[in-house]
Amino acid sequence: MASTGKYKSDLDTPCLVLDMNVLEQNLQKMQAAVEHAGKNLRPHVKTHKCSSLARMQIGAGAIGVCVAKVSEAEALVKAGLDNILLTGPVVTPRKIERLVDLLRTSPSLMVVVDHPGNIELLDAVLRTRGMVMDVLLDVDVGLNRTGVRPPDALALADRIVALPHLRLLGIQAYAGHVQHIRSYDTRKHTSYQCLKEAIRVFRELRATVPTCTIFSASGTGTFDIDLAVPEISELQVGSYACMDTEYLEIGSADNDARFVSFDPALRLLTTVISANHEGLVTVDAGLKSLYKDGGKPQVIVPENSALEYNWFGDEYGMITSTDNSELPPIGTVLELVTSHCDPTVNLFDSYYLTRGKEVNGTWPIDLRGCSQ
Ligand SMILES: Cc1ncc(COP(=O)(O)O)c(C=O)c1O
Repeated sequence: MASTGKYKSDLDTPCLVLDMNVLEQNLQKMQAAVEHAGKNLRPHVKTHKCSSLARMQIGAGAIGVCVAKVSEAEALVKAGLDNILLTGPVVTPRKIERLVDLLRTSPSLMVVVDHPGNIELLDAVLRTRGMVMDVLLDVDVGLNRTGVRPPDALALADRIVALPHLRLLGIQAYAGHVQHIRSYDTRKHTSYQCLKEAIRVFRELRATVPTCTIFSASGTGTFDIDLAVPEISELQVGSYACMDTEYLEIGSADNDARFVSFDPALRLLTTVISANHEGLVTVDAGLKSLYKDGGKPQVIVPENSALEYNWFGDEYGMITSTDNSELPPIGTVLELVTSHCDPTVNLFDSYYLTRGKEVNGTWPIDLRGCSQ
């Protein structure tokens, strides 16, 4: 993308920037790891909510994308993307109608299912339209959020196979509760334990249902662990693209203290707007700009400073110093890594794309607010 003649220092704050050099590295690193393991990548778009970034992931080699909600899928299809997997069940008649409407425009759309009533309703709506939809059986591997428990999975799979308007392509098994376990070894052990039963289910289905070839799983925290599982066919990782402090604070295979596989591409710029008090200054990014979840936002510019961010109400943040060094004067722009990228992104309309100090353009966060 061409330079806009604008610099990072020209940007008004608070705003979100994507460091394109880091983003490209993150995408290439994940793609290379997945390909090296002979698997596919279907990144989760709920993290960044941006069709342009999704297109970049496809350009880097992803076979498609995942979304959490029907409205996210609608926005992606509108933007011209396909091969979308909806990773949550769609159960109400109104939503199922919406889903099937979208299927007409995007025949490669897939959805997960986890309940007998749900599959019957979905099949009935598809029958009235004369359509068939590809589905994955959502297997609950201990997150207890959605999915059928492994002992009940094969019985539900049989019922899906018996319905003429559903085509069972495999399973989804997302171990969300494992992703942020700090110790790499514990995370690895727990992930294998969780996936064991889902693997058994998948082996059985693969042997008996010829269409069952997809085993979609994983998150950023277990991506390398799950790549070693032969049955898993595709990773549905999300946060690796942008990254956040919640992930940076977990250990990795080569570093107990830090997750070193991916670097933070997403940053928030915030300006010091008041400095009248001993020991603290106030910045213009609070709860409405930085979602308070996960770790703590981390100040990365100025580099190697001992500055620490704390929430200071809806509109403001408090900056203190952990070593009593001088605090930045008013007008100083700080660069932060956000605590939890997904809900923070949902607070903004666009990303500024940066390379070094230059701003090269913007991308709309066009899936923002798509929570239905
Ligand atoms: C079903 C599902 N799959 C994949 C992901 C991606 O996980 P991560 O952002 O940890 O890579 C998520 C994120 O919450 C998810 O809910």
